[in-house]
Amino acid sequence: MKMINKLFFLVALLALAPNITKGQTNAYSKDAEINTKVEALLQKMTLEEKVGQMNQYNGFWDVTGPGPTDGNAKLKYEHLKSGLVGSMLNVRGTKDVRAVQKIAVEETRLGIPLIIGFDVIHGYKTLSPIPLAEAASWDLEAIKSSAAVAASEASASGINWTFGPMVDISRDPRWGRVMEGGGEDPFLGSEIARARVTGFQGTDLSSPSTIAACAKHFAAYGFSQSGKEYNTVDIGLSTLYNVVLPPFKAASDIGVKTMMNGFNDLNGVPATGNEFLLRDLLKGKWNFKGFVVSDWASIKEMETWGYAKNRKHAAKLAANAGSDLDMESHAYINELKTLVAEGAVKESLINDAVRRILTVKYELGLFDDPYKYCDETREKEVVNSKANHDAVLDMAKKSIVLLKNENQLLPLKKQGQKIALIGGLASDKNSPLGSWRIASDDNTAVSVLEGMQKYKGNTLVFEKGADVSVGKTSFTEEVKVNMTDKSGFKAAIKVAKKSDVVVMVLGEHGFQSGEGRSRTSIGLPGVQQELLEAVYAVNKNIVLVLNNGRPLTINWASKHIPAIVEAWQLGSQTGNAVAQVLYGDYNPSGKLPMTFPRNVGQIPIYYNHKNTGRPINETPENPDFVFWSHYSDVENTPLYPFGHGLSYTKFEYNNIKVSKATFGMNESVEVSFEIKNTGALKGKEVAQLYIRDIQASVTRPVKELKGFKLLELNPGESKTINFALTKSELGFYNNQGEFVLEPGNFEVFVGGSSYTTLKSKFELVSK
Ligand code: NOJ
Repeated sequence: MKMINKLFFLVALLALAPNITKGQTNAYSKDAEINTKVEALLQKMTLEEKVGQMNQYNGFWDVTGPGPTDGNAKLKYEHLKSGLVGSMLNVRGTKDVRAVQKIAVEETRLGIPLIIGFDVIHGYKTLSPIPLAEAASWDLEAIKSSAAVAASEASASGINWTFGPMVDISRDPRWGRVMEGGGEDPFLGSEIARARVTGFQGTDLSSPSTIAACAKHFAAYGFSQSGKEYNTVDIGLSTLYNVVLPPFKAASDIGVKTMMNGFNDLNGVPATGNEFLLRDLLKGKWNFKGFVVSDWASIKEMETWGYAKNRKHAAKLAANAGSDLDMESHAYINELKTLVAEGAVKESLINDAVRRILTVKYELGLFDDPYKYCDETREKEVVNSKANHDAVLDMAKKSIVLLKNENQLLPLKKQGQKIALIGGLASDKNSPLGSWRIASDDNTAVSVLEGMQKYKGNTLVFEKGADVSVGKTSFTEEVKVNMTDKSGFKAAIKVAKKSDVVVMVLGEHGFQSGEGRSRTSIGLPGVQQELLEAVYAVNKNIVLVLNNGRPLTINWASKHIPAIVEAWQLGSQTGNAVAQVLYGDYNPSGKLPMTFPRNVGQIPIYYNHKNTGRPINETPENPDFVFWSHYSDVENTPLYPFGHGLSYTKFEYNNIKVSKATFGMNESVEVSFEIKNTGALKGKEVAQLYIRDIQASVTRPVKELKGFKLLELNPGESKTINFALTKSELGFYNNQGEFVLEPGNFEVFVGGSSYTTLKSKFELVSK
C-alpha cells in the first residue's frame, strides 16, 4: 500500500513537473519580455521625458468642470500634455482617471500611461477598521482579504496604486499615525506587512482588481521624537535593524512594488536623501526591484531641514540617494535636467529610476490597456457593494478587543433589560469612519446606536451626555475638543439611574488620530472623563466602549468600570460590529497590538524592552530601596500589555515542552503546549509564543514574539499546538546589520498575552 502511494505520488509529481517548469518559465519570460519593452522604450525617451516619468503631481484639474484656472494647475496641465508627468495622486473615479489618462496616452509623444496613486489605507469608499484595529485581529487571512477588498474597490474607481501599507513600528501612542500601522512589534508587523501587500497586489498584478502596494515610510518615521509629528528621529543601529526594518524587509521580500520615504531624518540624514537606506540597503543588500516615491514635498523639505542648500541641491541628493519619483516637490521636473547636464547626477541613475517606474506600469498592464481601471459599470457594481460591506463587518468584529469583563457583565442579556446608551460617539456616523477616508462619503458609518437598535428585546434609551468635539471636523484641520459643554450630563445621569446596564461610547474622534495629530495627553478628550465619573456615581453597571486610534490612558476607567471593550474606529459597519459583540452574537478574540500605558510619563512603554542592569526590586525586604529601574510614582507595569485581550470564554495553557534540552545551531527547536477552552462558550484565541535570548553579543529584549496561532475551540476542547523555531526566529541583527545566530541559553514562553509566565528553556550549542 505504501509503495503504491509512493508510486502514485511520483507519477503525480512527474505530471506536474512540466507545469511547474512552465509556470516558472512563464514568470521569467514575462519578466524578460517586460525588461525588453522597458529598454526599448527607454531608448526612445529624451532626458526630459525620462525626468517627466519621475514627476508626480496631485490632482489639479476638475475634469468634470472647466479647465484649470490658477497658474500652477495650468502649468501642471501643460506638463501632462507634454509627457512630463509620470504619475498623479488624488485623482479618482473612472471618469476623472480616464480623462487624465487620455491626455497622457493620446496627447503625448510617447503615450506612456500614468500610474494613479491614492491613499487606500483602510478601504476606499466602504471603510474597513483602521489598520491598528485590524492588527488587533492577529488574523492574517482576514487582514489580507480586507486589503484585497480595498484593492478591488479602489481599482474599480480608477486607482492602480495605493500608498499603503504603512509598516512603521511605533512605541509612542502620542504619535497620531499609530492608527495607520500594525503596532509596536516587528514580528507581528512583518506578518501584517506581508498580508497587506499580498492582499493589495494579489498573485497577478495585471488583474484589473489588484493594485500596486507601497510600504511606507522608509524608514523609522514611527520613532519621531516624543511622538511629535514630522519630528527628528535619532535611534541606534540595534533598534533600526531589529525593530524598524524587519517589516520593510518582509514587504520587499514578498515583492512589494513600491516604497515611500519618511518625512523624518534618521540620525541626521533625511530619509528622502538617505543613501544608506535607499541605495545601500533597500536597492543594494535587499535587491528591491520596485521604485521609491518621496513623501509629499519631502525632497523640497530637505532644504527646510537644513540638509540641502536649495531645491536644486535637494533634487541632487534625493536622486543620487535613490528616490525615484518626486511627489509634489516639483524638484525633479525643474532641476534634474540641468543636474544631469552638469554631471551632478548621472544619467544612468535617471535610467535606473525610470526603468523601475516603467516596469511597474508594464506589470500593471497599463501599456496593454491604460483604461483597464476605468470601467464605469464595474465601478457601479463593486464600490459600496453589499459583499464589501459584509467583508468590512466581518473584519470589524475580528478587530474588537475585550479589555476587561468583570461579573460577566458582557455579553448583554437580549431580553427584558433597560439599557442606557450614552456618549456623543454612540450616535456619530462620521467619526467611526476613521482618519484616512478621503474617498468615503461623510456620515455613512452605521453608528453604535443604530447597531444596538436592531436588538429589539430590550428597552434602549440614548442620551448623548456630551460631544467629543465642537463644530465641523475635517481631514485637514484640528478637531476642536468640547472642553466645556456639560449641558447633556443631567439627562444622561437621569437615564443611567433608571437602567439595568449603561453602555458608554467614549473616546477620540476619528480625526483626532492620523497624520498631523499628535497629542500629549491621551486620556478621554474633553469632558468625557467627567461624564463617565458622573454616570458611574449613579450606576456602576457600565460597559465602556472605547473609540480611539491609539492606546489611551484610561487608568480610572480600568480601575472602576467593570467591562471595557476596545472598539477603535471600525469603519462603515462599526455599529453592527459593536452591537453583535456586546450581545454575544460574536465572541471577541482581538489582542492588543500596542501596549496601553498607565500615564504619558511611561511612554515609550513596550513589551519587548531590554532587561537593563537593574531590572527589578530584588530587595523585597526593603521595598523602598530605590536603585532599580523604575518610576517612583506609578505602578511599573503597563495598564494593558501587548497581546492582551479577553473572550467570553476562558482559555488555559499547560504542558509547555521543548523537544530536547540542547540543540545544534542548524536544528529546529520544537516547542509544544496545550491549550484548553475551560469556559462555557465556543471561542477563538490567539496563542502567542515568545522567546528570550538570555545572553548575546548585543543585549536582547526580555521577550520577543516569534510565533502565534489563531484557533477556535469548543467548550472543554483542548488542542496541542506545535511551533518550530529556526534561525530566522532565534537570530538577530548585530550592529553591523548582519543577521546572526549565537549559541547560548533561551527561554520560551507561551500564553494569551505578552505577560505570560508559562515557560520552558533550551540551549543552542555550536558543535
Ligand atoms: C503624506 C503622508 O505622509 C503619506 O503617507 C501619504 O501617502 C501622502 N501624504 C499622500 O497623501
